[in-house]
Amino acid sequence: MRIDILTIFPSMFRGPFDESIIKRAREKGLVEIHLHNIRDFATDRHKRVDDYPFSGGGGMVMMVEPIHRAIEFLKSERNYDEVIYTTPDGIPFSQPLANRLSMCQNLIILCGHYKGVDQRIRDHLVTMEISIGDYVLSGGELPAAVITDALVRLIPGAISDETSALTDSFQDNLLAPPVYTRPADYMGWKVPEILLSGNDKQIEQWKMEQALERTKRLRPHLLRALEKEEDRTKKD
Ligand code: ADE
Repeated sequence: MRIDILTIFPSMFRGPFDESIIKRAREKGLVEIHLHNIRDFATDRHKRVDDYPFSGGGGMVMMVEPIHRAIEFLKSERNYDEVIYTTPDGIPFSQPLANRLSMCQNLIILCGHYKGVDQRIRDHLVTMEISIGDYVLSGGELPAAVITDALVRLIPGAISDETSALTDSFQDNLLAPPVYTRPADYMGWKVPEILLSGNDKQIEQWKMEQALERTKRLRPHLLRALEKEEDRTKKD
């Protein structure tokens, strides 16, 4: 997989992409992440990338030309599955969407700033608009890093224990059950007895009950989605 990120602040990605799973996935050649400074595609001598909105009002708008030039440059080199724009009014990011995007070969992620990008970029160049939640961040860089992280860890081989991505929260529409490690008794705070029993079948059942209880309490809408899915498969 290759991800090209268009940003006016490439250095914001230095921390998140240089540690842990993403770092290892890059080293193993499972993902290539390329950062492009939109300013490098500006044509005027001040390297301007934003301007005042025609409508008046406060804030600046990211200009069409540098972003258009950057996207066309990338597209001239290879085909892209999606050109993603990170924006609070995009579709909500979710595990199913992460699963789907993790199967893509080439993605562009465009990070917005100020009041956002000129609408013509969204109309003519962007193929998917994603929000990471109903709150406003100061730019699209953190959302782009969040999306990249969620995708990269799903690439086979990115996580050393192959099964662990499958047992994450939200896979199968359930939150993950609680986990424990040694010591079994820390100052009287005890690990549930069942986990020490060695009875694999009962442990699996306990995990499922815990996952269901957590999901019911904290994300009831996920269970409703699961029930609808089951109804659909029964009818088919
Ligand atoms: N840019 C600013 N806030 C955002 C959000 N919540 N999701 C995606 N992009 C954003």
